[in-house]
Amino acid sequence: MSVQFSEQEHGFQAIRFDGRRLQLLDQRRLPAEELWLEVDSADEAARAIADLVVRGAPAIGITAAYAAVLAARQRGADQAGWQADMSRLEQARPTAVNLSWAVNRMRRQVAEAGCLDPEALAELAVTIHREDVAANRRMAALGSEVIEPGSGVLTHCNTGSLATGGIGTALGVIVAGVREGRIARVFADETRPWLQGSRLTAWELARAGVDARILVEGAAGALMASGQVQWVITGADRITARGDVANKIGTYNLAILARHHGLRFMVVAPASTLDPDLESGQDIAIEQRDPAEIWRAAGLESAPHGSGAWNPVFDITPGELVDVIVTEHGVFRPPFRFDQDQAA
Ligand code: MRU
Repeated sequence: MSVQFSEQEHGFQAIRFDGRRLQLLDQRRLPAEELWLEVDSADEAARAIADLVVRGAPAIGITAAYAAVLAARQRGADQAGWQADMSRLEQARPTAVNLSWAVNRMRRQVAEAGCLDPEALAELAVTIHREDVAANRRMAALGSEVIEPGSGVLTHCNTGSLATGGIGTALGVIVAGVREGRIARVFADETRPWLQGSRLTAWELARAGVDARILVEGAAGALMASGQVQWVITGADRITARGDVANKIGTYNLAILARHHGLRFMVVAPASTLDPDLESGQDIAIEQRDPAEIWRAAGLESAPHGSGAWNPVFDITPGELVDVIVTEHGVFRPPFRFDQDQAA
């Protein structure tokens, strides 16, 4: 039991599971090296998620689902041990709701079955992965339809095959839009401090045969003023009932800049990223990471060693700055009001 698909149609696979072994393409090493890591337990998966071996909201949810299968095989009949594994797993990163969403789906299966059944859990994990692949395709089609031919787009962070199960969220829309001739220019923010834009998005776009230009984040305002982009398109880690969006730090800046320059702002995310239980984005836990992540840039010390740092890795864009939210269920426009029917 596994998920396999064509790269042209669905993007490439960065998470592999053959029923017993879980392998992750190590995103810390890209683009220099394509190294696969084998993960043998829920704790190893939690470490891989926390250390950004695998990142991106849907991808960490899918990884957690497969990790739940590994844990069930190791725990045998020990449900309490498995539940403790799940608790540690869902705490690996706090902001993306897809992580707890996937763990809770695995928990429900165990509650309904009344026992740990690794085969049934593997089937569910593969279903979660396949659903994401299908959601990606649907969002790519829906999102690209909204974009006027000849448009330029700016994206942030990485939202492609590395961050999802399939062709991606925002990046899926962009690749589809380029292939359909709607998008004429693609720009990717480098996305400090971890450089998901320049290391990962640029690598994925080149692999998909899409010409793109990278910019330092400080150049976004000048790019918008130059008239070369009409849309900013990003993914999300969590979206509240009123459409507030938690996403990679810097997204909020882009939304404000876009509004000032009269550009449109599109957020693309599967229903598994909606969290209608939360009203305001201010209630979303924002992950703070190690200051050491911003002590180095381009291989050089970029700050005095030991400097204090404020290193939130996500921010909140209020729903009123967002023009369109695309999920696999449709294209939503303000005022946003998401409820359980639209969530996965
Ligand atoms: O810290 P990361 O790299 O996991 O942050 C990822 C993002 O912010 C993405 O934009 C988001 O998860 C959407 S991925 C389809």
